[in-house]
Amino acid sequence: MYILVIGSGGREHALAWKCAQDASVSEVFVCPGNAGTALENKVSNASIDISNFEEVKDFCIEKNIALVIVGPEQPLVDGLVDYLQTVNIKTFGPSSAAAQLEGSKTFSKDFFIQYGIPTATYVAFNNFDSAKEHLKKIPYPTVVKADGLAAGKGVIICQTENEALEALISIFKDQAFGDAGTSVVIEDFLIGEEASFIAVVSKDKIIPLATSQDHKAVGDGDVGLNTGGMGAYSPAPIVDEKLHQKIIDEVMQPTMQGLITEGSPYLGFLYAGLMINNGELKVLEFNCRFGDPETQPILLRLQSSLVELCLAAIDDRLNDYQIQWADEHACGVVIASHGYPEDYTKNNEVTIKSSDVGGMKLFHAGTKLQSDKVLTSGGRVFCATALGKDLQEAQSRAYDLVESVSFEGAFYRKDIGNKGLK
Ligand code: AMP
Ligand code: GLY
Repeated sequence: MYILVIGSGGREHALAWKCAQDASVSEVFVCPGNAGTALENKVSNASIDISNFEEVKDFCIEKNIALVIVGPEQPLVDGLVDYLQTVNIKTFGPSSAAAQLEGSKTFSKDFFIQYGIPTATYVAFNNFDSAKEHLKKIPYPTVVKADGLAAGKGVIICQTENEALEALISIFKDQAFGDAGTSVVIEDFLIGEEASFIAVVSKDKIIPLATSQDHKAVGDGDVGLNTGGMGAYSPAPIVDEKLHQKIIDEVMQPTMQGLITEGSPYLGFLYAGLMINNGELKVLEFNCRFGDPETQPILLRLQSSLVELCLAAIDDRLNDYQIQWADEHACGVVIASHGYPEDYTKNNEVTIKSSDVGGMKLFHAGTKLQSDKVLTSGGRVFCATALGKDLQEAQSRAYDLVESVSFEGAFYRKDIGNKGLK
């Protein structure tokens, strides 16, 4: 069987690595991939243009691809899954309509209200003047969110009215997020601890994945700018059994049912970003994909076949599916390039002393292969991921793996997993 994974990050390296472990899989293609996927056993990169759906389709037919897994949000929102399904290529991911849960904050917030899903109180605006007027009436801090996809940068936490005004100017007047900023959501600032809840969903059936917690801020102790995620660990003790059930009942089930009612049943990974305060939960956002870097520690713990899981979801067989996890804990530490999440350096040569020793795996993200050398090409460059009998051991092994990688300007958070050890 041949598999195609769409994307180029650490998440896609982990997805491809996991698929390649199946005996039934002959080869996994990753498009466009990174140096890690180019070097992985049974995995190779395909240089096709993923925004050209016809090219993707032709590649799938030529290579007899049995399953396509779409990693990032942009091709999902753009309708790649819809397109491939019309030509009967088995593709794991939501339709463009269902991906609006991530693709539009105004869509998702309206959806939450309509289907009774707990979330921060908000008002949406499609013009600067009325949004500016609203700023006079609300308490601070407040949160201003650009409507569309903004590579994780469209959420601005504003401590004062002046900061909120600056956010509106940058979104509406300076068009900092282009079309993603034609409307905004202004919502209440929530306090609490964040957790990610990620599941495989097919219509009204759900297989929750192992729990995890990300570290969004760039600096130790959660200070500094928000990033795509600087590290994650699994399981996350904050999501205990009671909260797990509450998330399924109050968030996931009404979302799945709501999408069915809207005529856009969900297929794919569905990721709820949650704020938890004294056992009460609110949805911050939905992502229509697996998290990055949550994928890396979660897949290190997955004992079942990912290929079988995706195919069961596509074929509506999730009711019979039993998912198996390793009892061990996993921790993944992102190694980033100097400057990230703002402008960062690129094309630095990487030295890797060890990458795959028992229960440890160095997933590549922003890397490329040039004349047999691994060069940095992105802000998040690696995710050093390891298993351990408990979180402490997983964390210490992940940091050992971090030490085996070096490049100019490399930095990482020193406290990934500490929240779970508290
Ligand atoms: P989002 O993309 O909506 O998840 O926002 C990115 C990050 O901004 C979240 O992970 C939170 O850290 C923060 N955030 C978003 N919305 C709120 C809110 N209403 N209150 C507090 N923090 C928020
Ligand atoms: N790690 C957060 C995300 O994937 O959006």
